[in-house]
Amino acid sequence: MEIKAIGCEPLSLKRVGMNDGHTLKVYQDTGGYVQLKKAFGMAAADIIEEVKKSSLRGRGGAGFPTGMKWSFVPKDSPKPKYVVCNADESEPGSFKDRYLLEYDPHALIEGMVIAGWTLGASTGYIYFRGEYNYLIKIMDVALAEAREAGILGKNIFGSGFEMDIHTHTGAGAYICGEETSLLSSLEGYRGHPRMKPPFPAVEGLYASPTIVNNVETLTSIPQIVEMGGIAWRDLGTEKSGGTKLWSISGHVKKPGVYELPMGYADMEKFIMEDCGGMLRNNKLKAVIPGGSSVYIMNSGQILGKNVTLDYEGLVEAGSMLGTGGMMVMDETVDIMETTKNLTEFYKHESCGWCTPCREGTDWLVKIFNRIATGGGRPEDAQLLLDICDNIEGKSFCPLGDAAAWPIQSAIKQFPEDFMKRLTATDS
Ligand SMILES: Cc1cc2nc3c(=O)[nH]c(=O)nc-3n(C[C@H](O)[C@H](O)[C@H](O)COP(=O)(O)O)c2cc1C
Ligand code: SF4
Repeated sequence: MEIKAIGCEPLSLKRVGMNDGHTLKVYQDTGGYVQLKKAFGMAAADIIEEVKKSSLRGRGGAGFPTGMKWSFVPKDSPKPKYVVCNADESEPGSFKDRYLLEYDPHALIEGMVIAGWTLGASTGYIYFRGEYNYLIKIMDVALAEAREAGILGKNIFGSGFEMDIHTHTGAGAYICGEETSLLSSLEGYRGHPRMKPPFPAVEGLYASPTIVNNVETLTSIPQIVEMGGIAWRDLGTEKSGGTKLWSISGHVKKPGVYELPMGYADMEKFIMEDCGGMLRNNKLKAVIPGGSSVYIMNSGQILGKNVTLDYEGLVEAGSMLGTGGMMVMDETVDIMETTKNLTEFYKHESCGWCTPCREGTDWLVKIFNRIATGGGRPEDAQLLLDICDNIEGKSFCPLGDAAAWPIQSAIKQFPEDFMKRLTATDS
């Protein structure tokens, strides 16, 4: 497993892999908590302005501008405010946050306390996916160290500001990574998504103003306070600021977590050179660049196309950046089988709240099973697309879209993998 920064100094990866990187001592010896002191000397509005200037977009998948989200929190609300870190990391193909949680928990604490100071929130929660139980233990030790050192609690660094942060574990539901389901789950209810608006920034946890941000987003905050928004933005591009962690898996020689400046050129170089090229020197067939909930790409969309690795570059190339969970597939992969596998995941993880997703994903799996067992009908590709059309944009939350996109793009980019299985006339 490679852990490496390419084309930039390691910022998010600075302590990942470092001996005792998770301890308060190493964190402070390597510049930690200096930015929190600096933030206490800044006005909240100025911190929000720096985050806006940084062009930081949320690293949890949706890519919403963080500074803008923070500015939606009502300043005059009499209710308590909350900072919630989304450490659910359940997106298939995404495994970057776990390294930050394991090796750099204090960077997250520092980012959350800066967020708390900025937004006037005295309580923070870190919501871990159930399978990350071993990481909760590391985080709880880091939180205890921070409390002991006066970094959490009353009058932090003599600022008069008070904050504490608590860990909470999910129970293995992908939907609980969706921010409103996460908040329902954190309140002790079943993890169903909530209607938006109101957005969590206005009415979130316990109906109070709440900021939900991804682990990588929050650990970027001390970097922005240190460098200033513009300097951090300029590590990347104007619209996609800073650096980004990519989780690379599949048929490459060097899978791992890579930190790249936004706008890195290009995707082909990254896969073929930086990640060591294709396993067994096979041909590249397909890439899902941003975790499973984005459009699948064929090699023709990548090779010789100078696809830059940033939000805009991937949209232009026909997909999305998502979480940066890049899954690379070689010529031996049957994309019908890949898509079937992903669809089984979405059916399993559909929370059942709304009909298009609950029923639609079930129908999709039934059709995939028919195709896989030799009973595919010539009209099945169109039938899959019709069902996707009835799910996409018609479901209560984005999980429905996420279930439809891999199928729509797979049939478009790899029609032959479907057509060769759609020959049966009876079943
Ligand atoms: C089905 C679903 C699952 C999600 N899972 C995660 C997740 O595991 N981690 C995450 O940070 N965001 C996840 N998100 C995105 C969150 O809803 C939200 O946009 C994000 O936590 C906001 O933080 P950010 O702005 O820092 O990205 C998910 C969204 C959906 C629709
Ligand atoms: S789209 Fe799926 S996951 Fe989202 S609310 Fe509807 S049933 Fe639940």
